[in-house]
This record gives sequence, structure tokens and C-alpha cells, in this order.
Amino acid sequence: MTEDKSPVLVEFDSGIAFVTLNRPEKRNAMNPALNARMLEVLDELEGDERCGVLVLRGAGESWSAGMDLKEYFRDNDDKPRDVTLKARRQSGNWWGRLMYFEKPTIAMVNGWCFGGAFTPLVSCDLAIAAEEANFGLSEINWGILPGGNVTRAVAEVMRHRDALYYIMTGELFGGRKAAEMGLVNEAVPLAELEIRVRKICASLLEKNPVTLKAAKDTYKRVRNLPWDLADDYIYAKLEQMLFLDKTKGRDEGLKQFLDDKTYQPGLGAYQR
Ligand code: ACO
Repeated sequence: MTEDKSPVLVEFDSGIAFVTLNRPEKRNAMNPALNARMLEVLDELEGDERCGVLVLRGAGESWSAGMDLKEYFRDNDDKPRDVTLKARRQSGNWWGRLMYFEKPTIAMVNGWCFGGAFTPLVSCDLAIAAEEANFGLSEINWGILPGGNVTRAVAEVMRHRDALYYIMTGELFGGRKAAEMGLVNEAVPLAELEIRVRKICASLLEKNPVTLKAAKDTYKRVRNLPWDLADDYIYAKLEQMLFLDKTKGRDEGLKQFLDDKTYQPGLGAYQR
């Protein structure tokens, strides 16, 4: 069998789209080709019924070693500014798309995770790491600050002191520490990582997908809004959700509990 050299692999299994950053020989560093392909992959998966949940993982021993220091940085240094800006847009665009992706997203952090990789990590709705994974805001180690919205991403999920400590020292930290600081939801032994992620996917796949999309977007958007705007936005989203949900899930959920008595919402989801 010939080795697949595509910078991104997509495999489907049981409602899950496993999207694999596939440059293991370069520790899945994100070069312009990978960034351009990721944007296409997200477009392709958005309407693909085989993708109920997107899981982002890395080939080999890394999740991603961040931006490609050669192809993204040094090779572009002497190029005209529009080339640099295009490369910047390609990465920023797919991370931004990931943040509000149509389906739930889970970062399955199987190994090294450095610098620029923190933005897609935080853009995923959930993140589960291997205890053996190692993380680092290594920008300081080679003389830059965390760009590519990495600084904003860590401010979103990490505590103030922790964020500054790792931004300023560039020290490595493991999966358990990442979970303790809130950078990932939890850390499990590498051997159990995929099992745990699949279990979360199974739970998400039981839920109404229209509701899931509305719920995650609403959380991400309202947390920085004042209360009155948040309240208004939440109701607007709720009503939009009812309009978009052709299955009328809310009515069905109420019926199955109140009339059919076939489930209890406190203990699980209604039968779709
Ligand atoms: N950019 C470009 N190439 C990379 C990167 C990267 N971010 N990371 C690894 N590579 C390449 C190496 O140059 C090497 O290429 P070569 O085989 O052609 O020489 C290959 O991947 C393997 O790298 P090694 O360093 O030999 O692998 P090792 O397993 O020993 O170490 C580690 C892995 C720790 C991830 C190391 O490669 C490393 O420190 N990479 C850089 C991590 C980093 O700081 N990334 C930038 C963050 S800042 C930002 O993203 C803006």
C-alpha cells in the first residue's frame, strides 16, 4: 500500500469524522499546504452526513508542533507582504471556521502540542489529551511572542497566572497539568484516549444536532456580552433553533417525557 502524503487525512467511522494532521515526519507542523487543505476539509465536512462529530488528531507521536518554522516563517521572510498575509489568512481562516463549525468538534491531543497549535486546540469545542502529551508555548524560546491568536486563545481558557507563566517561560507541561489548568477537559492514558473520545462522540451523536450547534455557538458568543445583550441573543438563537429544527425536537422531547413517559430529561436525551 502506498503511503498517503496528503497533509490532512479524513476517515469516517460511526458518525465520527477523524481528521488527521498528517505530516508526522515534521511532527505535524502546520505549513501553508496543510492550512489550505484544512480549510477545504472543513468545507467538505460541513454538509457531509457521515460527519456528526469532528475529531482532530495528529499522525504519529504529535498532535501538532505548531506553525512550520521553515515553510510558514523563514521561507516567507523575503517574500512580498501579500504572500505573508495570505499564509496568515489561511491558518487564521481554518481556525476561525473550526471555532464555529457546524458540528461538534473534539481535539484529541495524542502528543506534542506547541505554539500555533494552541489556537485550533482552543477552537475545538472540547479537548481530551493523553496524559503523555506534552504542551508548550515555545514561541519565547525562539524569540517571538505567541501570535496567530495563540495569546488570545490561552487567555480564553487558562488562568491568568498560568497563561503568563507558560508564555514567559516556554516550559513544557503534560496532559494532566493541561487538564488541571482548563486547557483541555481531561487527560487519560494514551492507550485509552481514542476510547474516551469515542464515548464522548457517542453521547454527542444522541443529541439533536441543530440544538447542539445553537447551544455551543451561543455559549461562545455570549460570554463576552453584557447581560442584556446576552439575554436577547440567547432568545434570538433559541427561536432561530426552533425554526431551523425541522424535526421539532423540542416538542418531541416534551411529548416523550410528559405523554409517553419513555425517558427522563434529567437522565438522558429523548429518542431521535
Ligand atoms: N516547524 C518546522 N519543522 C519542524 C517543526 C516545526 N514547528 N517541528 C518539527 N519539525 C521538523 C524538524 O525540523 C525535523 O525535520 P528534519 O527531519 O527535516 O530535520 C523533523 O520535524 C523532526 O523534528 P525533531 O526535532 O528531530 O523531532 P523530535 O521528535 O526529536 O522533537 C519536537 C519533537 C520537540 C516537537 C521538536 O521537533 C520541536 O521542538 N519542534 C518545534 C516545536 C515548536 O517550538 N514549534 C513552534 C511553536 S511557535 C509557533 O507555532 C508560532
